[in-house]
Amino acid sequence: MGLPPPVAGAVRRITVLGTGYLGTVHAAWLAETGFDVLGMDTDPARVDALSRGVLPFYEPGLEPLLRSGLKSGRLSFTTSYAEVAAFGDLHFICVGTPQRAASYRADLSQLHSCLRALGTLLDRPCLVVGKSTVPVGTAEALAERLSVISPAGLGCELAWNPEFLREGRAVYDTMRPDRIVAGVTSSRAEAVLRQVYAEPIAAGTPFLATDLPTAELVKVAANAFLATKISFINAMAEVCEAANADVTKLSEALGLDPRIGAAALRPGLGFGGGCLPKDIRGFMARAGELGVDQALSFLREVDAINMRRRARMVDLATELAGGSLRGQTIGVLGVAFKPDSDDIRDSPALDVAATMHGLGAAVTVYDPAALANARQAHAELSYAGSALEAVTNADVTLLLTDWQEFCDADPEELGGVVAKRNIVDGRNALDPDSWRDAGWTYRALGRPY
Ligand code: UDX
Repeated sequence: MGLPPPVAGAVRRITVLGTGYLGTVHAAWLAETGFDVLGMDTDPARVDALSRGVLPFYEPGLEPLLRSGLKSGRLSFTTSYAEVAAFGDLHFICVGTPQRAASYRADLSQLHSCLRALGTLLDRPCLVVGKSTVPVGTAEALAERLSVISPAGLGCELAWNPEFLREGRAVYDTMRPDRIVAGVTSSRAEAVLRQVYAEPIAAGTPFLATDLPTAELVKVAANAFLATKISFINAMAEVCEAANADVTKLSEALGLDPRIGAAALRPGLGFGGGCLPKDIRGFMARAGELGVDQALSFLREVDAINMRRRARMVDLATELAGGSLRGQTIGVLGVAFKPDSDDIRDSPALDVAATMHGLGAAVTVYDPAALANARQAHAELSYAGSALEAVTNADVTLLLTDWQEFCDADPEELGGVVAKRNIVDGRNALDPDSWRDAGWTYRALGRPY
């Protein structure tokens, strides 16, 4: 075994393969902390943009970090696996593992092709660290494969170091993670990762060394728990609507119990994005393969509750529209899966907007960051350049993504341009009283009216 020696300053040159939200932030942060970093992606347009300091996606605070890395000379990008293999002794794999098209299982094709291309070029001892979210058992299989295909053989070691960053807060979460989980098979690999994360560790971030399968499981279990919490409060919203109770007050009261906690307890349109939906589905599929599908059958219900929120949103809008959406003008505020992001992957907001269009409504959408992505995916919708423009002449206004700009919207100003003062607050983000006082019919998921 010939990993770089675990002494301070030992690892200097690090590569990051895959430059999505995860890889780009990780690469820029590593450069910021003083490492020489080479980011790699198979997409030449992406590599070109990043090399010019231009982000191919929206992430607050990341562009300055990227530019500072480029300016310092410690950060660069390439499309070449050969350059990556020659450059680093430590390689982070950050490629995507989306849900397969016609299945709940994760699509690991990017991961396998990356490992294959890199592995065959690794001719000196190194540590390869997976950060992508994978089904439990993947890392052990990849470790074995890597030792077979790489010229350095057993000198190439594999570790798994899951990432817990939230989009929109990715820079902060990378600099100050809640915890660092390192799935390792040797104390030397652990020492290398402790060196890489010396700064957050010194700032108090707990570092947990585990075996490979436990590290993989931490990630999917954390996302399953968060999804369950969100669906729990949304299930309570269904009960609240039936009982004429207020789910926002219920959530506040529950969250004050330190055993429960307020995080991930905001009721509304539910979860979407590139992680929670596909991770709970992939987790169920993997549990089935392991013969323990019953252990995770509750996640089916978590998923179902989440999807019901979208249907309920359409129902509420239909009620406000007088029983049918056909011919109605609908103004939609927000299509990103959450605020401070341009990500529309499995976005509940975009799903609702497209469904309403399908039901015969004329839907006009505004989002501060996600318009270009939404337009590409749903050309049939109309797009506006501002919130005011989106709701002009609307019979019903829908708040679907809780961007601060929408939470601060003035009911009088919006009221001045709509056809009818009807609003459904899909994120429980507005103060119902001030909207009702301004003459709006206000409806929300899980609240009395
Ligand atoms: C999530 C995990 O939080 C992160 O740790 C993991 O690494 C990746 O997946 P992310 O997808 O960026 O991160 O978003 P998150 O902030 O968790 O929100 C996920 C979805 O749940 C969003 O659609 C959001 O609007 C929704 N949500 C979140 C709620 O509906 N209610 C809440 O209380 C919290």
